[in-house]
Amino acid sequence: MHRPLIKIIGSFLIIFTNSVLLSRVVAEENKSALARKADLIMRQNCYKCHGRPGERIRGGFGHVLDFDRLRKDENYLNLNDPSASVLYNRIESDEMPAGKNSRKLTPQEKQTILDWISAGAPSIERPKVEFSNSSSIDYIFQEIEADLETISDASSIRYLVLNHMPDAGDSEEDLEIFRDALKKLVNSLSYDPKILSLVSIDKKRMIYRLDLTTLPQNLETWEDLSRTNPYSIIAQDARTRTLRKRLKTSFPFMRGDWFAFAASRPPFYYRFLRIPDNAIELERSLGIEVNHNILNRAVLRAGFSNSNVSLNNRMIERNI
Ligand code: HEC
Repeated sequence: MHRPLIKIIGSFLIIFTNSVLLSRVVAEENKSALARKADLIMRQNCYKCHGRPGERIRGGFGHVLDFDRLRKDENYLNLNDPSASVLYNRIESDEMPAGKNSRKLTPQEKQTILDWISAGAPSIERPKVEFSNSSSIDYIFQEIEADLETISDASSIRYLVLNHMPDAGDSEEDLEIFRDALKKLVNSLSYDPKILSLVSIDKKRMIYRLDLTTLPQNLETWEDLSRTNPYSIIAQDARTRTLRKRLKTSFPFMRGDWFAFAASRPPFYYRFLRIPDNAIELERSLGIEVNHNILNRAVLRAGFSNSNVSLNNRMIERNI
């Protein structure tokens, strides 16, 4: 039986249009992937001299990461003849990144920048988080009050909130990084070998419940940390008072990004972990007698000529 010609042509057409559509999708994906790669390369290698707020702008060029502007700036990019772009020439010739401490770009990184220019110097697509009542304090209260219905003793419960971030222009992708950072930080504030799962209490995953009994040193440190927090809101309405009473704190919640900023460095990092002032006390608090172990050959050592972490070679010692 012959298949009617029209059907055969039809199926070719479908395959053809599909592949055209598909290649367009792929091209778009490639563009945003390229933009991301270019952003990363220039963020790490150029930004500190060419646009980072608070740093001196070198060579009068301060918009290396502002792709919308850069794309139209013929002083730096030539979209018709990408390899003639000033920006590309400067990295091609290893003139940039300038500075003794700067690393030259690898041939692959240079190629990525050239590919990015050839693709029309696309900007990074950042889908905004759709979250209409994001920064509303009502949202926080509503969710926290609902969460507390399930908890009998809430005196060690505190909340970390991220709901102001979408309004500040952060994308879902950015938020995901913050969420991961928070989880990582909370775990690094604990000596517990079990991984603590930091759970969000709302569907939008903007509010996280932190149980301070799971951190070794806690309630007092939280209060002090909150007092240094420039973003804390000290409202006096009845709803706030009820919440404070219930959690037995003046500061029931804190911005998660501030927490990640302040609790990951001294003095609060040390306070949360009760890190003593010197190594001997630290060893004692961990129940390790280093000298004794060395004399009794109860240590395992490994040396690395190229540490990849520090500039020098490195030795690690495990007390067994
Ligand atoms: C340590 C600082 C530093 C870093 C890092 C750095 N630059 Fe520069 N850049 C300079 C200075 C200083 C000048 C001005 C002197 C000159 O033109 O050589 C300059 C000039 C330029 C210019 C020319 C500006 C103009 O209008 O003439 C371009 C383009 C440029 N840099 C691109 C880059 C790129 C791309 C990177 C990253 C791959 C980078 N730079 C990294 C310091 C830096």
